[in-house]
Amino acid sequence: MSVTQLPASTRTVHPQLAELHRRQAEHPFWSSKLLAGFAQGAFSKADLSYIFSQYHLYSKSFTRFIAAVMANCDDDLFRSQLSENLWDEGGGCEPDRRHAQIYRNFLTGALGVADPAAIAYESYTHNFVREFLVACLRAEPMAGAAFLSLGTEGIVPRMYQLMLSGLRGAGLPDDQLEFFHIHISCDDEHALTLENMLLSYAGQPGWFDACAAALDHALTLRAEFFANIFEALQVRRLAPILARMQGHQSLARGVPDESLVHRATAAATGDTMYANKVEKLNVDFTVERLPVAAEVLDPRMVRIPAGKFNEKHKHTHETLIHIIEGTGQVLVDDRVLAVRPGDSVMVPRWALHQTQNLGATEMRFLAVTDYNLSQRAYLGDATDYRLR
Ligand SMILES: [Fe+2]
Ligand SMILES: [Fe+2]
Repeated sequence: MSVTQLPASTRTVHPQLAELHRRQAEHPFWSSKLLAGFAQGAFSKADLSYIFSQYHLYSKSFTRFIAAVMANCDDDLFRSQLSENLWDEGGGCEPDRRHAQIYRNFLTGALGVADPAAIAYESYTHNFVREFLVACLRAEPMAGAAFLSLGTEGIVPRMYQLMLSGLRGAGLPDDQLEFFHIHISCDDEHALTLENMLLSYAGQPGWFDACAAALDHALTLRAEFFANIFEALQVRRLAPILARMQGHQSLARGVPDESLVHRATAAATGDTMYANKVEKLNVDFTVERLPVAAEVLDPRMVRIPAGKFNEKHKHTHETLIHIIEGTGQVLVDDRVLAVRPGDSVMVPRWALHQTQNLGATEMRFLAVTDYNLSQRAYLGDATDYRLR
């Protein structure tokens, strides 16, 4: 009897299929830094444009993967069901509605990719798509079904939800994200067709191991692809700075004197970039950015009234604190460092820190950070978090 004729309850309680689903849900793929970045809304539109330009090669190749599994499938009923998937992918009677085209509309409309046909794919992208196709072409029918159902279609709703949150995080409106919406709703059905196919082989020797290996192969290939995208994004973000370092050109050229020298002022200049007062934490301070022509440094003047503290916080950038006025202490993780005018304190990356003014006069210190480097290099959640 074909599995398609089994009642749904028999199919869903199949214990080995449940185990395969558990492995799918807990696969290390879900810990990809790229997926974490989507969930945190860490990507700019330029980042997303790069990510989804690379992903285009995969998206437009998708019907090739289905066709390859179809060619290996010896059951004419399953082939006809797979042809339904292909028909959906192809937009049915409306070629303009084929998924590859809807994806291109997203690239041009939402991400401003001028010409998707001119995208330069990285070699790691070509490699990923080639490996994916080879797996579908060479797989035994049951492994091919597992590769495409558990390892591919079955992860789409969860993966595309994460991508959607990243796209929304960059301010893209939902009406330009149709590609993701239609897949979140339709790929469950496609996965089911393939899962029925996979279950029809369940009695064969080695079935479970073959399915588990195919599932792992599909998710591992995709995890490697995502890791490559993530690494390339970091390099791309830093590339302009690296080029200027290699360029040997003075960046002082054409820069006005006011951007090279900042004159001492006892009073705040009024250019406050950040300030906070929290009575119960004894927090009260202001931060001004010094408007100098720095590329990666970000010097700031911090003022703390007598007896007050700034926030206890940590961040991705490192900071050198130089005390100009006032006495007190700087907390760095579990260290307490007494300070007076002329002292400098190094706050390494991610160290929890706070400056406390213990004197009777205002404290003033220069905080020089590499914020403009760290901000570009770091892809993740908020770079700066404060304990309130
Ligand atoms: Fe699709
Ligand atoms: Fe800080």
